[in-house]
Amino acid sequence: MRIVLMGAPGSGKGTQAQRLVSHFGIPQISTGDILRQHRKDGTELGKRADAIMAAGKLVDDATMLDIIRDRVAQPDAQRGFILDGFPRTQAQAEGLTALMRDLGTPIDAVVLFEVGEEELVRRISGRRTCSLCNKVFNIYSAPPTVPATDCVAGSSEHQLFQRKDDEEATVKERLRVYEANTRPVLSYYSDAGLLRSVSAEGTLDQITQRLHAALAAAAAPRAPRKSRKSARTPRRVARKAAGARTARVAKSRSRKAGTRKPAARKPPRTQAKAKAVRRRPSRKPALRTARRKARPVRRKSKR
Ligand code: AP5
Ligand code: MG
Repeated sequence: MRIVLMGAPGSGKGTQAQRLVSHFGIPQISTGDILRQHRKDGTELGKRADAIMAAGKLVDDATMLDIIRDRVAQPDAQRGFILDGFPRTQAQAEGLTALMRDLGTPIDAVVLFEVGEEELVRRISGRRTCSLCNKVFNIYSAPPTVPATDCVAGSSEHQLFQRKDDEEATVKERLRVYEANTRPVLSYYSDAGLLRSVSAEGTLDQITQRLHAALAAAAAPRAPRKSRKSARTPRRVARKAAGARTARVAKSRSRKAGTRKPAARKPPRTQAKAKAVRRRPSRKPALRTARRKARPVRRKSKR
């Protein structure tokens, strides 16, 4: 499955993406994590992205599309992937559609996580990430277990750090950028019939359940309206109904136009006709006699 998770900063995209990874066995592609890795490795891109991320702004579309093109070409992404944090602009969304079209593997579902602003700020201020395994925690709502049994790096303790861009001023700017650049992208996907929204407030398990329901609904094949109707209605019935409809429409049109002819009355039955009907011989007795004659005669057997 090829899934896109959308939502404001702190809405839980990364947290739920990590749960989907173990369920579907497909990778999470978080553009934020990829950029943070470049920053850590001190690459050219990392150096360039550092100031942009610290200010809560967006890295340019061409760079982000190059990153995605390379990442979806990796062997582990051939069965599908979970995009987290991409696309964030209209140009990125259109670029992704074109890329998927070229690869012949369209996006299956886009899920929007809906969370109120107050809750977003609370979540971001409590977020901590493990520098060893990238697992996301929250000192208020989802603290790590001690000792760590789930650190994929094999450490007995998660090495937690707070993201540089989680300072109050930067968070405000990220929320503003989301409203200005990313929210408009939602209508692009709803017009394409791909967008599903889930309330992302509640426990982690509740949200995972809603997410799975949304993905199942997106995966269910939708029969086009026309074929659903013809499957229900036999052709003969449909033709009859269409005929009746045409007659009704013609009747109402002529009534509106005042051109409706008075209904033709049945002429009274003449006496001669009535007699003719009465005199018509019934065929029933003749039939009965003919059948009796045709019946084989049974003879009593002599013993
Ligand atoms: P990125 O890393 O993608 O950040 P983001 O989109 O702002 O989203 P977050 O990672 O902050 O939130 P999330 O939705 O993943 O929430 P999480 O699961 O962590 O991007 C960072 C920067 O990189 C951008 O600002 C930009 O500069 C650049 N960038 C990235 N992609 C780009 C692109 N495509 N184009 C241009 N620039 C790009 O959860 C948050 C907290 O809440 C956690 O502590 C978690 O434990 C907790 N939590 C989660 N669910 C719940 C719950 N149900 N109840 C209580 N707490 C919860
Ligand atoms: Mg994230």
